Amino acid sequence: MDMNTYVKVHDLTVTYNRDSQPIFEGLSMELYKGELILLMGPNGGGKSTLIKSIVGLLKPVKGRIEVLGVDPYRDLDIRKAIGYVPQVMDVNIYAPITLWDLVSFGRYPYLGIFKRFSKVDEEIVLDAIKKVGLEDYIDYKVSELSGGQLSRGFIARALAQDPMIYLLDEPFESIDYISEEVVLKVLREEAGRGKLIVLAEHHLSETGYIDRLILFNRGVIADGKPEEILNDKYLEKAYGGVKI
Ligand SMILES: Nc1ncnc2c1ncn2[C@@H]1O[C@H](COP(=O)(O)OP(=O)(O)O)[C@@H](O)[C@H]1O
Ligand SMILES: [Mg+2]
Repeated sequence: MDMNTYVKVHDLTVTYNRDSQPIFEGLSMELYKGELILLMGPNGGGKSTLIKSIVGLLKPVKGRIEVLGVDPYRDLDIRKAIGYVPQVMDVNIYAPITLWDLVSFGRYPYLGIFKRFSKVDEEIVLDAIKKVGLEDYIDYKVSELSGGQLSRGFIARALAQDPMIYLLDEPFESIDYISEEVVLKVLREEAGRGKLIVLAEHHLSETGYIDRLILFNRGVIADGKPEEILNDKYLEKAYGGVKI
């Protein structure tokens, strides 16, 4: 496999229940090192399903996925290299943990059996918090943060993990426009450092930072530079005339 192909999806079919309709069938795509990709399409189109498949959370009915050359469903070690921010937050936000604790979780795959943080781990966590502009909230409990601050906290957790691949599932849901721009700039920088970033959104108004747009609805509708894709023909095909 080409060293620059970080994710390879080949003839993939995913179904939730054995006898129900597939969410998508015979899907193939390659995602490369250094790309900032927007995976965009309507709700229910299968974006989260595709992302979960790449993380290795769903077993393909047919076809295969390679993440950095291995099958993510079988080789769980690869998760260390994947910074996954799920659409539904995977931490109890009422737990008595602080923003610092949340972002620290990003370092856990690197810690030894005693889970002891080094000075370097602490610096990485602090740096991630600063990058998303939350340095004034370090000691806040996660329950005290606004929706947008919490979303940025989850992105900081992924940054602290320093993964090769970011899979961010609707991270901008409750983020204001200014913070969205801050995060997009950070992601742009990460792409510049050779990371692959996949951003799933049902809609994104600011596509200036995006290298590649994959318009997705139960399959790939269009795949290319945002300016090539964002036209009525493709949007109509993906959203079926629904105004976005
Ligand atoms: N755990 C599940 N069990 C059964 N069906 C599911 C499950 N998760 C999602 N689906 C269905 O799969 C389809 C695609 O959903 P999803 O991948 O969440 O789309 P998107 O992220 O683009 O909104 C939807 O019809 C949804 O109802
Ligand atoms: Mg989704």
